[in-house]
Amino acid sequence: MRIDIISVLPKLIESPFNASILKRAIDKKLIEVNFHDLKDYASSKRRQVDDYQFGGGSGMVMMIEPIKKCIDSLKKERKYEEVIYMTPDGEMLNQKISNKLSLKGNIIILCGHYKGVDQRVRDSLITMEISIGDYVLSGGELPAAVLCDSIIRLIPGVLGNETSALTDSFQDDLLAPPVYTRPSSFENLDVPEILLSGDKLKIELWREEKALERTKNLRPDIFD
Ligand code: ADE
Repeated sequence: MRIDIISVLPKLIESPFNASILKRAIDKKLIEVNFHDLKDYASSKRRQVDDYQFGGGSGMVMMIEPIKKCIDSLKKERKYEEVIYMTPDGEMLNQKISNKLSLKGNIIILCGHYKGVDQRVRDSLITMEISIGDYVLSGGELPAAVLCDSIIRLIPGVLGNETSALTDSFQDDLLAPPVYTRPSSFENLDVPEILLSGDKLKIELWREEKALERTKNLRPDIFD
């Protein structure tokens, strides 16, 4: 899988890919991530990529020309299955969307900035619009990093233990059960005895029960 991220501030998004699981996935060549500075595709000497809104109003709008140029140059090299625009008015990101995207070949992610992109970009170039929550950030870079992390950890071989992504919260519409590690007793706080019993079946049933209980209490909206 290859992810191409287009941004006016590529520096802002590079660091999460230089550490931990994402870096390991890139080093192991399980994923290729490339960053593209939209300003490199501007036609003016000033490398201008935004302009005033038609009709008036505060805030600049990202122009269609450099975005089209950048996307076209990528599409010339290879096929892309999705061109995603990060925007607070997009479809809310959830585990199902991340699962689906982790199965794709190549994707492009466009990060919005200022007042967003010219509507014609959304109408003619974008295949999916994704939000990471009902709040507005200064740009699409951090949301793009969140999206990439949620996708990349699902790619086979990225996580050490193949099953650990499958037992994440939301994978089966349930929150994950509580987990414990050593010491088994800390001050007055004890690990539930069943986890120390060695009885795999009973532990599995206990975890299922706790996952249901947690989901019912904390997220009644997804508890069915
Ligand atoms: N850009 C700014 N805010 C955003 C959000 N909440 N989700 C996705 N992209 C954004």
